Amino acid sequence: MQKRAQYSNNAFFDKSKVIIITGASSGIGKAVSLALVKYKPKLVLVARRKKKLLHTESLLKKHKIKTLSIVGDVRNRDDRMKIVDLILKTFGRIDVLINNAGVGKANLFLEQPEEEIDQLIETNILSLIKMTHAVVPIMEQQGEGNIINISSSLAMLPVYPFAVYCATKSAVKVFGDSVRQELKNYGISVSTVLPGPYKTEFNKISGLNDKLVNGSEVDKLARKIAQLITKPKNNLIRPKSFIPLLWITTRFSSFKEKITFQIAEQINRARLANLKKLELEKSLLKEKETEITVEVKTKI
Ligand SMILES: NC(=O)c1ccc[n+]([C@@H]2O[C@H](COP(=O)([O-])OP(=O)(O)OC[C@H]3O[C@@H](n4cnc5c(N)ncnc54)[C@H](OP(=O)(O)O)[C@@H]3O)[C@@H](O)[C@H]2O)c1
Repeated sequence: MQKRAQYSNNAFFDKSKVIIITGASSGIGKAVSLALVKYKPKLVLVARRKKKLLHTESLLKKHKIKTLSIVGDVRNRDDRMKIVDLILKTFGRIDVLINNAGVGKANLFLEQPEEEIDQLIETNILSLIKMTHAVVPIMEQQGEGNIINISSSLAMLPVYPFAVYCATKSAVKVFGDSVRQELKNYGISVSTVLPGPYKTEFNKISGLNDKLVNGSEVDKLARKIAQLITKPKNNLIRPKSFIPLLWITTRFSSFKEKITFQIAEQINRARLANLKKLELEKSLLKEKETEITVEVKTKI
């Protein structure tokens, strides 16, 4: 039978603790890395874009934080193994895993290319489960650990232009809710974060027009996520205004349908506006190219 470790809901946190944060090159991951400074941990930063990752590292170095930056793709098995091996060689332990790396793609399901579906599922859920699977044996040996998974409020507000994204984020929530019960026996806590809309690169990468998406600043959210390392919480919903909204939608299905449809329509308008903007930019670029060709030809 499993041993029941002394799991503390308010675990002692000291400077020897090692935290991995995936997706630390921008947005929420970068902000959480900076919010963790006050705990003085050893911080392992993971992302694919080296320049941006090193920028996060340089900001942390100013606060004298010990960091290890690993350029890697969480979808890649070799990269995941490299991440765990390098951390164990460098710091000898892993205390917290913040599974933050993720992508969004706003698209109509009928128009969605298969590669986009693969990218969403592989990044948002498969990699998150596999990263967790790679670190929990280490945490189990240590007798303690802390997993923080970044889901989304869209896990509970399923909207049509984000169908596959919503499915992945809902899987993140269900995975957390179920595995939490098993892992607590080993002193490992699992928190799930369900953010509403925030101002990050997420909207641009998702293919949305920023002007039509109202998002909050990430700093306050980042501080709340950082607090989870000492005070784990099953589900953290932010901004606070989303708490009653999500509560009502779990109880009243007709309200849920109405509200999710309204949000979906808003997202779809932002998606269409972005497509229009991209088309306009493309045609302007073509016009410019034609002008240059004509100019060159006239000169000749
Ligand atoms: N912003 C929002 O409104 C919002 C709302 C709800 C939930 N979320 C969730 O919050 C998390 C962070 O998103 P964000 O808003 O901060 O967006 P973001 O600025 O686009 O950040 C996404 C991060 O994930 C990393 N990433 C993506 N694919 C990766 C891969 N295959 N391997 C390694 N790293 C990868 C990116 O780094 P590289 O590109 O350098 O690899 C980047 O650092 C995501 O899980 C997202 O779904 C965001």
